[in-house]
Amino acid sequence: MADPRGQTNALLSTNKLKLGLFGVNVSNGCAITKVPERFRGTWPETLAISQTADRYGYEALVPVARWKGFGGETNFNGTNFDTYTWAAGIAQATKNIGVLTTSHVPTVHPIMAAKQATTVDHISNGRFALNIVCGWFAPELEMFGRSIMEHDQRYEYAAEWIDIVKRLWSAEEEFDFDGQFIQVKKGFSMPKPIQKPFPPLMNAGNSGKGREFAAKYADMAFLHLDPSNLDTLKAHIDTYRRLAREEYGRELQIWANCHVTQRDTQKEADAYLHHYVVEMGDDEAVENILNIQGQQSQRLQQEKREQIKFNIKAGWGGYPLIGTADRIVDQLATLSGLGIDGILVSWVDYLDGLNRWQRDVMPRLEQAGLRNPVSA
Ligand SMILES: Cc1cc2nc3c(=O)[nH]c(=O)nc-3n(C[C@H](O)[C@H](O)[C@H](O)COP(=O)(O)O)c2cc1C
Repeated sequence: MADPRGQTNALLSTNKLKLGLFGVNVSNGCAITKVPERFRGTWPETLAISQTADRYGYEALVPVARWKGFGGETNFNGTNFDTYTWAAGIAQATKNIGVLTTSHVPTVHPIMAAKQATTVDHISNGRFALNIVCGWFAPELEMFGRSIMEHDQRYEYAAEWIDIVKRLWSAEEEFDFDGQFIQVKKGFSMPKPIQKPFPPLMNAGNSGKGREFAAKYADMAFLHLDPSNLDTLKAHIDTYRRLAREEYGRELQIWANCHVTQRDTQKEADAYLHHYVVEMGDDEAVENILNIQGQQSQRLQQEKREQIKFNIKAGWGGYPLIGTADRIVDQLATLSGLGIDGILVSWVDYLDGLNRWQRDVMPRLEQAGLRNPVSA
């Protein structure tokens, strides 16, 4: 049976391959580069990009939860809008697209989160969804005066947090919650969200514990795609969906994160990728990220480290869609055939990328039966 929330929320639409934008609330978006056309993260820019994606029929705008930059010449992601108030403003300025908040659970009390999320659901008339993240960048969480939890414990905290949020969204009576981490006395919240029983949830956990969490709670989960090894992807997707279905009786959309360089020839696309990643990449920022993630040079073979650095600079390690519209559509048809339901995309220059994609990729996706034409 179709999910009734699909009547208002494009994230639950019938498009076979759903499209979302990632990172348009943080400077540089997903590309760790010094090129002058990079995204600066101002409100007029994020507004124009979001409204363009809305007009072109995209399903989702997913912001990044970030509080501090990663240094380097660009201070990558160092200018970052709060994702709840960003979503509220964007929701008011758009018509059809799904608008998400990405919430770092340790930084927002669940009562505040439930209330703010409900408010955006009302502003957007049922187009809101919540992306739940636990946080991994210790210095930004330390700004809040707390140290980062041990990895698996973060998900145990997140489970209590979202259990409370869901109760607040649906309970008709006051309730107490006595968790290991969070206590609530006579909790209650009105109004309830427009979407029933509550807005869709997204999670991008990648570890075993993260996937277990996503299978239990999320409507949209992410898989990290290795372009050199798609052979096992279908099996991974099937296993993930089966876990959600058999353990928790839930249907899971599987999404992937991609970065795009689309040009009229493969040669031009490869040259631009080389330019922004190798010639103009912010190497200091990416080194900082690798060090924070604990991938010190002693522990990684040099070749592998260079490859990882390249992928992170190109688009946060997302799947590369590089080349002509035909090639990109071929790649997307393959991913869709393997079971991918949606992709989050990022470009160095989002508006330029959106317009190229709209001109050349979108009609081909429609011809391939992956998307329905947008009615005017
Ligand atoms: C598409 C996508 C979006 C993410 N967004 C954020 C974010 O906004 N803030 C953040 O701190 N982490 C973000 N993450 C990191 C994840 O929350 C998670 O920490 C990571 O995928 C590692 O998985 P694990 O927690 O299961 O080890 C994102 C990851 C992906 C793939």
